[in-house]
Amino acid sequence: MKIPRLLQAVLVLAGVYFGFIVVFDIVLDAVIPSSLLAMYMFFVTAGVFMVFTHDEEQTRELVVPIKALVEDPSNRLWRNIVFVVVPLAAGGGAYMQMQPSFDAPLELRTIHPAPPSTAKIYGERVNLLKLTNPFRETEKKDPEKFRELVDAGAAVYIQNCQYCHGDKLDGNGPFAAGLNPTPLNFQDVGTIAQLQESYLFWRIATGGPGLPKEAAPWISSMPVWQDFLKEDEIWKVILYLYDYTGHRPRSWEHE
Ligand code: HEC
Repeated sequence: MKIPRLLQAVLVLAGVYFGFIVVFDIVLDAVIPSSLLAMYMFFVTAGVFMVFTHDEEQTRELVVPIKALVEDPSNRLWRNIVFVVVPLAAGGGAYMQMQPSFDAPLELRTIHPAPPSTAKIYGERVNLLKLTNPFRETEKKDPEKFRELVDAGAAVYIQNCQYCHGDKLDGNGPFAAGLNPTPLNFQDVGTIAQLQESYLFWRIATGGPGLPKEAAPWISSMPVWQDFLKEDEIWKVILYLYDYTGHRPRSWEHE
Protein backbone atom coordinates (compact mmCIF):
# COMPACT_ATOMS: atom_id res chain seq x y z
CA MET A 1 0.00 0.00 0.00
CA LYS A 2 1.37 3.37 -0.95
CA ILE A 3 1.01 6.23 1.52
CA PRO A 4 -0.54 9.27 -0.25
CA ARG A 5 1.97 12.08 -0.78
CA LEU A 6 -0.05 14.54 1.28
CA LEU A 7 -0.09 12.17 4.23
CA GLN A 8 3.65 11.63 3.76
CA ALA A 9 4.25 15.36 3.99
CA VAL A 10 2.09 15.62 7.10
CA LEU A 11 3.90 12.67 8.70
CA VAL A 12 7.30 14.24 8.00
CA LEU A 13 6.14 17.49 9.61
CA ALA A 14 4.73 15.70 12.65
CA GLY A 15 7.99 13.74 12.97
CA VAL A 16 10.07 16.91 12.89
CA TYR A 17 7.75 18.56 15.42
CA PHE A 18 8.05 15.73 17.91
CA GLY A 19 11.76 15.54 17.16
CA PHE A 20 12.17 19.15 18.31
CA ILE A 21 10.19 18.44 21.46
CA VAL A 22 12.24 15.35 22.24
CA VAL A 23 15.57 17.08 21.60
CA PHE A 24 14.71 20.14 23.70
CA ASP A 25 12.67 18.55 26.47
CA ILE A 26 14.48 15.29 26.99
CA VAL A 27 17.97 15.64 25.54
CA LEU A 28 18.71 19.27 26.36
CA ASP A 29 16.22 19.52 29.24
CA ALA A 30 15.32 23.04 28.12
CA VAL A 31 11.89 24.46 27.49
CA ILE A 32 11.50 25.67 23.93
CA PRO A 33 9.47 28.89 23.64
CA SER A 34 6.34 28.29 21.54
CA SER A 35 7.14 31.31 19.37
CA LEU A 36 10.54 29.82 18.52
CA LEU A 37 8.99 26.43 17.82
CA ALA A 38 6.45 28.13 15.52
CA MET A 39 9.31 29.82 13.68
CA TYR A 40 11.24 26.57 13.23
CA MET A 41 8.10 24.81 12.05
CA PHE A 42 7.39 27.57 9.55
CA PHE A 43 10.76 27.02 7.85
CA VAL A 44 10.48 23.25 8.08
CA THR A 45 7.00 23.37 6.49
CA ALA A 46 8.29 25.59 3.69
CA GLY A 47 11.20 23.19 3.12
CA VAL A 48 9.04 20.07 3.13
CA PHE A 49 6.61 21.50 0.60
CA MET A 50 9.46 22.66 -1.60
CA VAL A 51 10.77 19.09 -1.72
CA PHE A 52 7.32 17.57 -2.17
CA THR A 53 6.43 19.88 -5.06
CA HIS A 54 9.73 19.90 -6.90
CA ASP A 55 8.22 18.65 -10.18
CA GLU A 56 4.81 18.66 -11.86
CA GLU A 57 4.15 14.98 -11.37
CA GLN A 58 4.83 15.07 -7.63
CA THR A 59 2.81 18.23 -7.15
CA ARG A 60 -0.17 16.64 -8.86
CA GLU A 61 0.16 13.61 -6.64
CA LEU A 62 0.35 15.79 -3.56
CA VAL A 63 -2.88 17.63 -4.29
CA VAL A 64 -4.87 14.59 -5.40
CA PRO A 65 -6.67 14.11 -2.07
CA ILE A 66 -7.41 17.84 -1.81
CA LYS A 67 -8.79 17.94 -5.36
CA ALA A 68 -10.86 14.84 -4.70
CA LEU A 69 -12.32 16.36 -1.59
CA VAL A 70 -13.30 19.57 -3.32
CA GLU A 71 -14.42 18.23 -6.69
CA ASP A 72 -15.66 14.66 -6.31
CA PRO A 73 -19.46 14.68 -5.91
CA SER A 74 -19.36 11.50 -3.81
CA ASN A 75 -17.33 13.36 -1.17
CA ARG A 76 -20.09 15.84 -0.45
CA LEU A 77 -20.57 14.90 3.16
CA TRP A 78 -16.82 15.08 3.95
CA ARG A 79 -16.52 18.34 2.05
CA ASN A 80 -19.28 19.89 4.11
CA ILE A 81 -17.78 18.67 7.36
CA VAL A 82 -14.31 19.95 6.47
CA PHE A 83 -15.61 23.30 5.30
CA VAL A 84 -17.48 23.79 8.56
CA VAL A 85 -14.94 22.36 10.98
CA VAL A 86 -11.79 24.04 9.58
CA PRO A 87 -13.12 27.64 9.66
CA LEU A 88 -14.64 27.03 13.09
CA ALA A 89 -11.34 25.67 14.41
CA ALA A 90 -9.42 28.60 12.93
CA GLY A 91 -11.90 31.09 14.40
CA GLY A 92 -11.82 29.36 17.77
CA GLY A 93 -8.03 29.33 17.78
CA ALA A 94 -7.85 33.03 16.95
CA TYR A 95 -10.41 33.77 19.67
CA MET A 96 -8.46 31.84 22.29
CA GLN A 97 -5.25 33.63 21.30
CA MET A 98 -6.76 37.08 21.57
CA GLN A 99 -8.47 36.45 24.88
CA PRO A 100 -6.70 38.40 27.60
CA SER A 101 -5.47 36.32 30.49
CA PHE A 102 -6.03 37.50 34.04
CA ASP A 103 -3.70 34.99 35.59
CA ALA A 104 -0.56 36.36 37.14
CA PRO A 105 2.33 35.54 34.82
CA LEU A 106 4.31 32.51 35.87
CA GLU A 107 7.45 34.25 36.91
CA LEU A 108 9.82 33.29 39.63
CA ARG A 109 10.93 36.53 41.11
CA THR A 110 13.63 37.21 43.60
CA ILE A 111 12.00 39.84 45.79
CA HIS A 112 15.22 40.76 47.51
CA PRO A 113 17.98 40.03 45.04
CA ALA A 114 21.47 40.03 46.45
CA PRO A 115 22.86 43.52 45.94
CA PRO A 116 25.91 43.93 43.76
CA SER A 117 28.98 44.72 45.88
CA THR A 118 29.36 48.02 44.10
CA ALA A 119 26.83 50.13 42.24
CA LYS A 120 26.91 53.34 40.28
CA ILE A 121 24.92 55.85 42.29
CA TYR A 122 24.97 59.60 41.64
CA GLY A 123 27.58 59.01 38.97
CA GLU A 124 30.03 57.35 41.35
CA ARG A 125 30.94 53.74 42.06
CA VAL A 126 30.01 53.11 45.65
CA ASN A 127 30.94 50.08 47.69
CA LEU A 128 27.64 48.86 49.11
CA LEU A 129 29.37 46.71 51.71
CA LYS A 130 30.95 49.75 53.32
CA LEU A 131 28.16 52.26 52.79
CA THR A 132 26.44 53.51 55.94
CA ASN A 133 23.78 56.08 56.67
CA PRO A 134 25.71 59.26 57.51
CA PHE A 135 22.85 60.42 59.77
CA ARG A 136 22.46 57.22 61.79
CA GLU A 137 24.96 58.29 64.45
CA THR A 138 22.89 61.35 65.40
CA GLU A 139 20.27 58.97 66.80
CA LYS A 140 22.41 58.53 69.91
CA LYS A 141 24.63 61.58 69.79
CA ASP A 142 22.02 64.26 69.20
CA PRO A 143 18.43 62.96 69.53
CA GLU A 144 16.95 66.37 68.82
CA LYS A 145 18.81 66.71 65.56
CA PHE A 146 17.79 63.11 64.79
CA ARG A 147 14.06 64.02 65.15
CA GLU A 148 14.57 66.90 62.72
CA LEU A 149 16.19 64.59 60.22
CA VAL A 150 13.37 62.04 60.56
CA ASP A 151 10.80 64.81 60.05
CA ALA A 152 12.63 65.93 56.93
CA GLY A 153 12.54 62.29 55.77
CA ALA A 154 8.80 62.18 56.46
CA ALA A 155 8.31 65.22 54.21
CA VAL A 156 10.27 63.51 51.42
CA TYR A 157 8.16 60.38 51.90
CA ILE A 158 4.80 62.17 51.81
CA GLN A 159 5.78 64.12 48.72
CA ASN A 160 7.22 61.19 46.79
CA CYS A 161 6.54 57.76 48.12
CA GLN A 162 3.12 57.50 49.71
CA TYR A 163 1.36 57.35 46.33
CA CYS A 164 2.59 53.82 46.02
CA HIS A 165 3.85 52.68 49.43
CA GLY A 166 0.91 54.22 51.31
CA ASP A 167 0.67 56.87 54.03
CA LYS A 168 0.86 54.11 56.61
CA LEU A 169 3.90 52.59 54.86
CA ASP A 170 1.89 49.42 54.35
CA GLY A 171 2.23 49.28 50.55
CA ASN A 172 -1.35 50.41 50.09
CA GLY A 173 -0.99 53.79 48.42
CA PRO A 174 -3.62 55.06 45.96
CA PHE A 175 -1.63 53.76 42.96
CA ALA A 176 -0.81 50.39 44.50
CA ALA A 177 -3.81 48.49 43.15
CA GLY A 178 -2.72 49.19 39.57
CA LEU A 179 0.84 47.96 39.99
CA ASN A 180 2.33 44.50 39.60
CA PRO A 181 4.61 43.79 41.37
CA THR A 182 2.90 45.72 44.12
CA PRO A 183 4.78 48.35 46.11
CA LEU A 184 6.37 46.74 49.14
CA ASN A 185 4.85 46.96 52.59
CA PHE A 186 7.50 48.37 54.92
CA GLN A 187 5.50 47.39 58.00
CA ASP A 188 5.90 43.75 57.06
CA VAL A 189 8.81 42.04 58.78
CA GLY A 190 9.82 40.60 55.41
CA THR A 191 10.97 43.89 53.91
CA ILE A 192 13.09 46.65 55.45
CA ALA A 193 13.36 44.88 58.82
CA GLN A 194 15.48 42.26 57.00
CA LEU A 195 17.64 44.74 55.18
CA GLN A 196 20.55 47.05 55.69
CA GLU A 197 20.38 50.76 55.13
CA SER A 198 22.93 50.50 52.31
CA TYR A 199 20.61 48.02 50.58
CA LEU A 200 17.71 50.45 50.84
CA PHE A 201 19.91 53.27 49.59
CA TRP A 202 20.85 51.19 46.54
CA ARG A 203 17.21 50.14 45.89
CA ILE A 204 15.82 53.66 46.30
CA ALA A 205 18.54 55.36 44.25
CA THR A 206 18.42 52.92 41.33
CA GLY A 207 14.76 51.77 41.51
CA GLY A 208 13.25 49.05 39.34
CA PRO A 209 15.71 49.55 36.45
CA GLY A 210 18.62 49.08 38.86
CA LEU A 211 17.60 45.55 39.78
CA PRO A 212 20.21 42.96 38.81
CA LYS A 213 19.63 40.31 36.15
CA GLU A 214 18.70 37.52 38.53
CA ALA A 215 15.68 39.56 39.60
CA ALA A 216 14.40 39.56 36.00
CA PRO A 217 11.88 39.41 34.50
CA TRP A 218 11.08 42.38 36.62
CA ILE A 219 8.71 45.14 35.62
CA SER A 220 8.97 47.13 38.81
CA SER A 221 7.48 50.60 38.76
CA MET A 222 9.81 51.72 41.55
CA PRO A 223 11.28 54.98 40.21
CA VAL A 224 14.98 55.77 39.96
CA TRP A 225 15.12 58.26 42.80
CA GLN A 226 18.68 59.43 42.21
CA ASP A 227 17.18 61.34 39.29
CA PHE A 228 14.77 63.24 41.55
CA LEU A 229 16.12 63.34 45.09
CA LYS A 230 19.37 64.47 46.63
CA GLU A 231 21.58 61.94 48.30
CA ASP A 232 20.87 63.28 51.81
CA GLU A 233 17.12 63.19 51.11
CA ILE A 234 17.37 59.46 50.44
CA TRP A 235 19.28 58.89 53.70
CA LYS A 236 16.65 60.92 55.57
CA VAL A 237 13.72 59.07 54.06
CA ILE A 238 15.44 55.82 55.11
CA LEU A 239 15.63 57.13 58.71
CA TYR A 240 11.91 57.85 58.48
CA LEU A 241 11.03 54.38 57.13
CA TYR A 242 12.68 52.71 60.14
CA ASP A 243 11.47 55.26 62.65
CA TYR A 244 7.82 55.07 61.58
CA THR A 245 7.65 51.30 61.36
CA GLY A 246 9.71 50.74 64.53
CA HIS A 247 12.00 48.29 62.69
CA ARG A 248 15.76 48.36 63.14
CA PRO A 249 17.98 48.21 60.08
CA ARG A 250 20.22 45.18 59.96
CA SER A 251 23.89 45.83 60.26
CA TRP A 252 27.07 43.82 59.94
CA GLU A 253 27.90 44.20 63.64
CA HIS A 254 24.82 42.29 64.75
CA GLU A 255 25.58 39.29 62.60
C1 HEC B 1 5.30 54.39 41.31
C2 HEC B 1 5.21 53.68 42.54
C3 HEC B 1 6.33 53.84 43.57
C4 HEC B 1 6.78 54.99 44.17
C5 HEC B 1 6.31 56.42 43.94
C6 HEC B 1 7.80 54.56 45.08
N1 HEC B 1 7.97 53.20 45.04
FE1 HEC B 1 9.24 52.08 46.16
N2 HEC B 1 8.64 50.41 45.21
C7 HEC B 1 7.62 50.35 44.30
C8 HEC B 1 7.42 48.98 43.92
C9 HEC B 1 6.40 48.49 42.91
C10 HEC B 1 8.33 48.21 44.67
C11 HEC B 1 8.46 46.68 44.65
C12 HEC B 1 9.27 46.21 43.51
C13 HEC B 1 10.73 46.51 43.69
O1 HEC B 1 11.32 46.07 44.69
O2 HEC B 1 11.28 47.20 42.81
C14 HEC B 1 9.10 49.14 45.45
C15 HEC B 1 10.14 48.78 46.30
C16 HEC B 1 10.77 49.64 47.16
C17 HEC B 1 11.85 49.27 48.06
C18 HEC B 1 12.47 47.91 48.18
C19 HEC B 1 12.07 47.30 49.49
C20 HEC B 1 12.52 45.88 49.65
O3 HEC B 1 12.08 45.29 50.64
O4 HEC B 1 13.27 45.37 48.81
C21 HEC B 1 12.19 50.41 48.76
C22 HEC B 1 13.23 50.52 49.86
C23 HEC B 1 11.34 51.47 48.28
N3 HEC B 1 10.50 50.98 47.30
C24 HEC B 1 11.38 52.76 48.76
C25 HEC B 1 10.69 53.82 48.18
C26 HEC B 1 10.87 55.20 48.59
C27 HEC B 1 11.76 55.68 49.74
C28 HEC B 1 10.08 55.95 47.77
C29 HEC B 1 9.96 57.47 47.74
C30 HEC B 1 11.19 58.23 47.64
C31 HEC B 1 9.40 55.03 46.86
N4 HEC B 1 9.81 53.76 47.14
C32 HEC B 1 8.50 55.42 45.91
C33 HEC B 1 6.91 51.40 43.78
C34 HEC B 1 7.08 52.72 44.12
